[in-house]
Amino acid sequence: MLVSAKEMLDKAKAGHYAVGQFNINNLEWTKSILQTAQELNSPVILGVSEGAGKYMGGYKTVVGMVNGMLEELNITVPVALHLDHGGYDACYKCIEAGFSSIMFDGSHYPIEENVEKTKELVAAAHEKGLSIEAEVGAIGGEEDGVVGMGECADPKECKMVADLGVDFLAAGIGNIHGKYPANWKGLSFETLDAIQQLTGDLPLVLHGGTGIPADMIKKAISLGVSKINVNTECQLAFAAATRKYIEEGKDLQGKGYDPRKILAPGAQAIKDTVKEKMEMFGSIGKA
Ligand code: 13P
Repeated sequence: MLVSAKEMLDKAKAGHYAVGQFNINNLEWTKSILQTAQELNSPVILGVSEGAGKYMGGYKTVVGMVNGMLEELNITVPVALHLDHGGYDACYKCIEAGFSSIMFDGSHYPIEENVEKTKELVAAAHEKGLSIEAEVGAIGGEEDGVVGMGECADPKECKMVADLGVDFLAAGIGNIHGKYPANWKGLSFETLDAIQQLTGDLPLVLHGGTGIPADMIKKAISLGVSKINVNTECQLAFAAATRKYIEEGKDLQGKGYDPRKILAPGAQAIKDTVKEKMEMFGSIGKA
């Protein structure tokens, strides 16, 4: 059964480790992540962006697929199904569809409007037993070839949003989605420290987990980060393994054209990436 992410993240914050949120794109992604979490006895969060939800055939399809796998693959570790960077309408759709957690990303609104909408969604999510993440300070990334450096959130605004009763908070600390540019200045631990001082026990979320070096990840965890989102890294690993299979001409040998064979190396690559991250985040054995 899906669970809210609140308890697993409160435990992670108290135990000084982080739980990975791995974004899913299809059945292979979902199965690889769930099986790895089970094998390593780690809690896990499956992230679904609005685009990925649409791609997979809608939120209800995703809920059906994930619930089916939990049962039929005997997944007993805590698993949360979480809407990633949801807009206002998507949050309500996921609450209805059977997600166990949502993120409302109101970071592009003026702070007053972000506060107002977040407050309303906190009540709606909690009423149905879901956990909710909010965001302060937009997280940069590549858009049409222009790479934003990643804003740093205002710690006072973080405190304001934390006080609305959100279960965990994403705050920009110079992190960005996708690959980091060569001239990236790194995470702002000064900002993170200031945010944690004001928000106390609230688990903090680090987006853009792809490509952040292990020493920065460890330092971020020591300063209160309890959830780390990874998406691009699984995509890169999947693409490289699939490319290798095709370039080696394996699809042309015997029944190598069988989709289950074509997608197998990519699925294994996702498993290897998830394992590496769970080791780095310290969540193994914490289920
Ligand atoms: P990356 O794609 O950089 O790993 O970021 C993932 C993320 O933050 C999803 O919200």
